[in-house]
Amino acid sequence: MSHMKTIGVLTSGGDAPGMNAVIRAVVRTALFSGIKVVGIRRGYAGLMEKSIVEMDLPSVSGTLQRGGTILGTARSKEFREDAGVELARRNCIELGIDGIVVAGGDGSFRGARALSEKGVPCIGIPCTIDNDIGCTDYTIGFDTAVNTVIELVDKLRDTSQSHSRCSIVEVMGHHCGAIALHAGICCGAEAVLLPEVENDLERDVLINMREALNKGKTHFIIIVSEGVTGERAKHHTMDAQQLADLIEKQTGVETRATIIGHIQRGGAPTSRDRRIGSMMGNYAVKLLKGGVGNRVVSMRKNVIIDYDITEALEQYKTINFEELRTFNEIR
Ligand code: F6P
Repeated sequence: MSHMKTIGVLTSGGDAPGMNAVIRAVVRTALFSGIKVVGIRRGYAGLMEKSIVEMDLPSVSGTLQRGGTILGTARSKEFREDAGVELARRNCIELGIDGIVVAGGDGSFRGARALSEKGVPCIGIPCTIDNDIGCTDYTIGFDTAVNTVIELVDKLRDTSQSHSRCSIVEVMGHHCGAIALHAGICCGAEAVLLPEVENDLERDVLINMREALNKGKTHFIIIVSEGVTGERAKHHTMDAQQLADLIEKQTGVETRATIIGHIQRGGAPTSRDRRIGSMMGNYAVKLLKGGVGNRVVSMRKNVIIDYDITEALEQYKTINFEELRTFNEIR
């Protein structure tokens, strides 16, 4: 019999479609193992405020198909300080929480490690639309976000085709171009601009556009990652509108900029996000049940495994350059 009597589950950082599948799997796995579950509202902020709710089977019914997170989420500055972690530890003792499943990104895992080191075993589950977490091939939410972007770019193509325009589409991904690259391949974009490579407008966009114009092409889709044109881009030289203006000036093609923004973070999770979310949630509870904490659940070559949190945080990931090469050869 496990010494885990009650486990907590929280979602932290940017929400990601599939987080509810994680919560549901955690709740159902735990309850079927005789373990009580409490939901912690708004991530670590809720843990510090003792904002919890007991989770039973009805509390997760009808949630698998919903985007966002039923528990709410937040990015807590206080929890980055030892005083915040200490407060959370004391609250766990007071509330009888023996272990916690944390669904989020790298920042959330740092918090999970700090709490584990203070004696509250935590298991991280990688959830972010960015797919930028080093220790795992896949992060929950990515597939849904890419599919949403594809749907929206397909709509944009209809109007840019009708007006013989060029559309610049800025997608999310913080400093990671994975969403942009995937969408670029799936939407048949004419160019992608990614933060992982040095972009040269002439070489990567304008030469191809001029050649295509000469062959009679009249409309263009260029997908740019927010890591290139977004406010927080590391080497920010111009925003999406300035890029559109420049392309229009250089090619004579009327060009519009569209920033998709948070729409790509919402919506019903795809089968992939529901399935992997469910599997990882179930796996995390089994780790806690076996007395294991301070781990991150990961997917490697389609198999679910786990890493020590420090080992997980030390791993590095970049975009798939083979996919970028393919994109460049078929665009
Ligand atoms: O990490 C997920 C993400 O959506 C990034 O793609 C984006 O840069 C960031 O979160 C936006 O964060 P916020 O919710 O603070 O606008």
